[in-house]
Amino acid sequence: MPRAAPNGLLTLDGKAPLVVAHRGASGYLPEETIEAYARAVDLGADVIEMDLLVTKDGVLVARHDPNLSISTDIAKHPEFAARKKTIKVDGETQTGWFVQDFTLRELKTLGAISTDAERPQEFNGKYKVATFQEILDFQKAKTLETGRPIAIYPETKNPTWFRDMGLPMEDKLIAMINAAGLNSKTAPIFVQSFEPGSLKYMKSKGLNTRLIQLIDGDGIDMKTGAMTYAVPVDRPYEWTQAGDMRTFSVMVTPAGLAEIKTYADGIGPWKRYIVSIQGNMGADGKAIDANKDGKVNDADANSIAPTTLVADAHQAGLFVHPFTFRNENRRLAADYKGDPKNEYLAYYRLGVDGVFTDFTDTALAARATYLKEIGR
Ligand code: G3P
Ligand code: CA
Repeated sequence: MPRAAPNGLLTLDGKAPLVVAHRGASGYLPEETIEAYARAVDLGADVIEMDLLVTKDGVLVARHDPNLSISTDIAKHPEFAARKKTIKVDGETQTGWFVQDFTLRELKTLGAISTDAERPQEFNGKYKVATFQEILDFQKAKTLETGRPIAIYPETKNPTWFRDMGLPMEDKLIAMINAAGLNSKTAPIFVQSFEPGSLKYMKSKGLNTRLIQLIDGDGIDMKTGAMTYAVPVDRPYEWTQAGDMRTFSVMVTPAGLAEIKTYADGIGPWKRYIVSIQGNMGADGKAIDANKDGKVNDADANSIAPTTLVADAHQAGLFVHPFTFRNENRRLAADYKGDPKNEYLAYYRLGVDGVFTDFTDTALAARATYLKEIGR
């Protein structure tokens, strides 16, 4: 049984779990835009999270996917039609327009769009792609304006893939963090990556911020609750390139956590490594549509007993920030009864040190309930 601090909290530092606005207030506005970050700060987020990519002219910008058709209106720009192509991104074949083929000036002519058809679409095309420098400036301005420290959480996205194209991102990121005066363990910044080599490289080049090893998986075997793995989220791409065929699963073992502790301060696991789900199986061996809404998804499954990952990571001296918490019913296990706050509560009670969320307000409301529950 994990030991609570005298204040009842089970986090590594004994403080309340952090609410990390994943891609900004992405449940409400087109993600990774200054407007989405501003909304997250207004809602009360402790931290804003961003994925970093590199433009043709070497500028770090905030987008989750190199394939711009996923999160921008580039398909509606005939002037760029000829640049559409099919390529592999971290081993996965994709068709679209890719960030490395566009200068920042060209990117700024695009509008960001929602990446989820179930979320508001009325803001599509209204906001621009943000540069990392604009986000640093925003962080500084908002911290002054609100009087509370707003932390940032940049991720090196597809770093090996970009390096192979002659667009390495790490040195640029370190230089910008240094210039912003954020290069220390206590500065309001966390630097994350799925690729250990990217984190190790930055550490070796003098990056002194808190570092987070992200740990991915593809899906869940609904019969057993076990994690499944598939390209491109089966392992760090640098491992695939090197012929190392282990999966992310090795990172959550005690030996894997001890190895992570040699270069990082925390882990960012997919939340199913902490609480997985199991479905009800039909005679055909497939999960059944238990709620009879015509689709089989997480809402047809129930949470199973938690793993020991949070306690194991804490034992190794690593904090734990699981991703990603979302409000939509189809993404909530049935035992949460359609209330996303119940999911946060389950993880807060296990002692996670923070949560990546698309819905800052829901995460904060659940945190308030949790703190009350433990008498704080
Ligand atoms: O960085 C935490 C979380 O964002 C990882 O997943 O794919 O949204 O970057 P992804
Ligand atoms: Ca991310």
